[in-house]
Amino acid sequence: MSVSQRRTCGCMIQNQILMETVPTYRQAQLAIEQASREYESDTTRARADFPIITIPVVVHVVFNNDTDNISDEQINSQIRILNEDYRATNSDIDSVPDPFKPLVADAKIEFELATRDPEGNPTSGITRTFTNKTFFNVGDDEVKFTSTGGKDAWPSDRYLNIWVCSNLLSRGMTILGYAQFPGGPSETDGIAIGNNFFGDIGTASPPFNKGRTATHEVGHWLNLRHIWGDDQTLPNPCSLSDFVNDTPNQARPNFGIPNFPSPSCGNDAQGGDMFMNYMDYVDDISMFMFTKGQVVRMRATLDGPRASLKTADALTSV
Ligand code: ARG
Ligand code: ZN
Ligand code: CA
Repeated sequence: MSVSQRRTCGCMIQNQILMETVPTYRQAQLAIEQASREYESDTTRARADFPIITIPVVVHVVFNNDTDNISDEQINSQIRILNEDYRATNSDIDSVPDPFKPLVADAKIEFELATRDPEGNPTSGITRTFTNKTFFNVGDDEVKFTSTGGKDAWPSDRYLNIWVCSNLLSRGMTILGYAQFPGGPSETDGIAIGNNFFGDIGTASPPFNKGRTATHEVGHWLNLRHIWGDDQTLPNPCSLSDFVNDTPNQARPNFGIPNFPSPSCGNDAQGGDMFMNYMDYVDDISMFMFTKGQVVRMRATLDGPRASLKTADALTSV
């Protein structure tokens, strides 16, 4: 498998499938977008001192062999990285170039493995399921159902479901991970990631071994779009937006380890492409920030379609 084969994203494909197959999804997405705009238009939000929100997480390890049955330590490394990245305490945050430094934001979102399962019993927040499957197709969400060799979701109004398996295939190509945006069916809600791209130890493999795939996918799950606006195949790749005001308009995804500055769409004066944003496609070591505008958008999701997670009884001791 070549590196370029691993770079594509499954999430917009899944978004499109939902648009076409679930009649209410399109409506739900439009309503969420509208509510998000209203939330963002309250200018006090930009200055808001948001309270910390702790999201209960369940990690479903779906494995075909011992190697893919990744360790608790590898899972914990991913939880630690999510907490660093969503609290802007990541060690590489000082690498943000000067023009973008004023835009760096702490999302005030934290993540903890659940201590209570859906029935109210004690849990480690990790499930482990043996499967006969050696790969999973993204399009039909096979990894998310016990009946197709995966593992059924825990109620998505109370838990962030993270499925970790080997070989996620989208149209025959291995992808790093994919996410479901808010407003979709609850049985498939959450994110899925290949174990080679999960956490920073164990089976995590370069250049996607710093846990940033989960940071990126959770961004989608909280309604963030790709920073370049997903318009790279249109005649004008500067025509669409990520619906965030403080990210420079950007033509296409960036890959690998870009040099700063890297301008497109006439964004030179703003500092060029913000390729070091978690919602671009660069290598894990090259991405290290969310912006204030992205944080407001994620907070709109947690005060809107995903608000029930804040009162989920999934982290109290049993
Ligand atoms: N394939 C992922 C997606 O768009 C993006 C990967 C994130 N990039 C990274 N360096 N981990 O869903
Ligand atoms: Zn993506
Ligand atoms: Ca663009």
